[in-house]
This record gives sequence, structure tokens and C-alpha cells, in this order.
Amino acid sequence: MTEKIERLLQRVEEFSPRSAAELEEFRIRILGRKGELNDIMEEFKGVAPELKRELGQRINKLKTRAQERISELKGELESRTAEEGGTIDDMTRPGDCQPLGSRHPISLVRNEICGIFERLGYTVAEGPEIEDDWHVFSALNFPPEHPARDMQDTFFIEKNPDILLRTHTSSIQVRTMETHKPPIRVVCPGRVFRNEAISYRAHCIFHQIEGLYIDENVSFADMKQSLLYFVREFFGEDTKIRLRPSYFPFTEPSAEMDISCNLCGGKGCNVCKHTGWLEIMGCGMVDPNVLEACGIDSNKYSGFAFGMGVERCSMLKYGVKDLRLYFENDVRFLHQFDTAI
Ligand code: DAH
Repeated sequence: MTEKIERLLQRVEEFSPRSAAELEEFRIRILGRKGELNDIMEEFKGVAPELKRELGQRINKLKTRAQERISELKGELESRTAEEGGTIDDMTRPGDCQPLGSRHPISLVRNEICGIFERLGYTVAEGPEIEDDWHVFSALNFPPEHPARDMQDTFFIEKNPDILLRTHTSSIQVRTMETHKPPIRVVCPGRVFRNEAISYRAHCIFHQIEGLYIDENVSFADMKQSLLYFVREFFGEDTKIRLRPSYFPFTEPSAEMDISCNLCGGKGCNVCKHTGWLEIMGCGMVDPNVLEACGIDSNKYSGFAFGMGVERCSMLKYGVKDLRLYFENDVRFLHQFDTAI
């Protein structure tokens, strides 16, 4: 009986099937209910008790090895057919559809906002995410002790206080003014970084779009009208705006702009905290100190600037309640924007 077991083991080792069907046939012949292993088990029942231990072990070994070998062979056959491009049984069968990707809602909104300003004659400008103190703070009239420079808000690189991740896209205004002569009309989209705790309404990475318009005789009224045009295009014809006095080091006067709440139509709801208004951007007339720092004659030229959060605009437009969704890349969220724009 030992010999029978060994012979079968050898056959298992040497077996080399040409097809999956041949392998399956072999499996049934050896391991099937009426297979050869079963015959051996039947024979085992009549074996003398003193031989049972040794023979039992051999049979077990044979069985495990046979199962192992068969799955090995199956794997080999599968990878071989995959390498050869699989078997084509029906040449007329339609191909598999590849699912189409969709644009990320941040890209959609960025493109839409830039598109609106491009129609007003603006061009798109970009700048580096790793910046220096001059472009993010000093040229923008931030006093040395301004809290925004603090470690708490700004990510510095390798403890060098001069190299940092930009905290706003206003740095691109500086780069544009340094390298271009007025008239200047640019929108500057980009990713910004702030050392903030992550929650449904704040993230350490987000996106902004900055705008800058410099020419002779540019007035606050020009700014107001341009921004009104933008919100009507983006949020809808009936949207109203409201400007509230504010402070930014780089603009004088500065304002915060609100739009009428597009969810409740101004009546008051949870999103607008029952005020009927939603804050969407900061803006103002470029401070003469900033123009001079960037090499532009502040006696001849004036201009306005504005900056807004892309996530915020996208949340308001699409009714997204949690900012973190924009960074998780969950396809169930992203696929909802398949048909947008
Ligand atoms: N940089 C400001 C921020 O990050 C946004 C901003 C406000 C930009 C007013 C401007 C502006 O250009 O004029 O909060």
C-alpha cells in the first residue's frame, strides 16, 4: 500500500495539464468522491492496526500535497492565459466599458470662476506654493509682529522663517506686479496652507482665487460692479451683494463682501445663520505701500484686489456641508459632479 501511495504522489508531482479542463479532470480522478484517493482510504480501513499510524500519515500527506499541487497548477494556467491575452471565444462580443472619470468639484468651480473673470478681460496667473516671507507677508504690508506670520498659522520649512508654505494666494499679486507693467488684470487660483485643526469647516489645505486689477483711475465703484457681475454669473441673476468695512494690511479701504443667501432667498436659514447673508470674499483698494513695494508708481496707478475660498464657493453652490469631503476622494461624492458644467 505504501508503494501505491508513493506512486500516486509521484503522478501528482509530475502532472502537467495543457488546459483547465484537463486539470479539472485530473482533480476529479484523484480527489473526487469516487477518485483514487478514496480507493486508498477504503483499503486503509482493512489495514492492520500497527500499520495504521504510519500509513495514515502518508495518506494525509498525499492528500494535502495533491490539493496544493492542483491549486498551484490552476494559478499557473490562469497567469499563462492572462499573459497570452486570454482566450477569445466570441470575436463579436462588445468590449468592456471603461468607467469615465469626472472632474473634481474644486477644479470645476475654479475653472468656472476663472472663466467668468476671463470674460471680463482677466488672465490667469499662478505662483509657487513654497514661498518666501517677502511675497506672502512683507511686500503685502504685513507688519513684522502681525499674528498671521505666527508659527500657529503658517507652516515654515525646516525652521527657516524665510521659507514657508503660502497662506494665501495674495503672494501671486506681488509676483505679477513685480514682473508686469500696468494695466494688470489677473486672477490667481491656487492651493494654500494654514496650520489649522481639521473640521467640517476648516482644513490645513484649501484653495483660493485672488483677483487683481491695476490701471490709471481704477475706483472702488469699478470693483463693486466687477464683483456684482461675478456673483450674478456664478450664483444666479438675482443674487445681491453687500460690502462691509473690514481690514487687510494690503488694501485700504478694505471690505468683506456678502451675497444674499441663495438657499433661503434672504429670508434666513441655518446656513446664513438667519442673517440672510453669506460672506464670500475679502476685497479692497490696493494699499499704495503694496504698489510701491512691487515697483508700481502709486501716484499714477490705483487698483483693487479680492480673494475668495474655492471650497466655500463650491459648498454654497452645491450645498456641500462638510469641507473634508473635498479631500477624501470618495468616488460616491465625486461621481455626483459627473454632469456638472
Ligand atoms: N488674502 C486674504 C485671505 O487670505 C483674502 C483677501 C482679502 C485677498 C482681501 C485680497 C483682498 O486680495 O483684497 O484671507
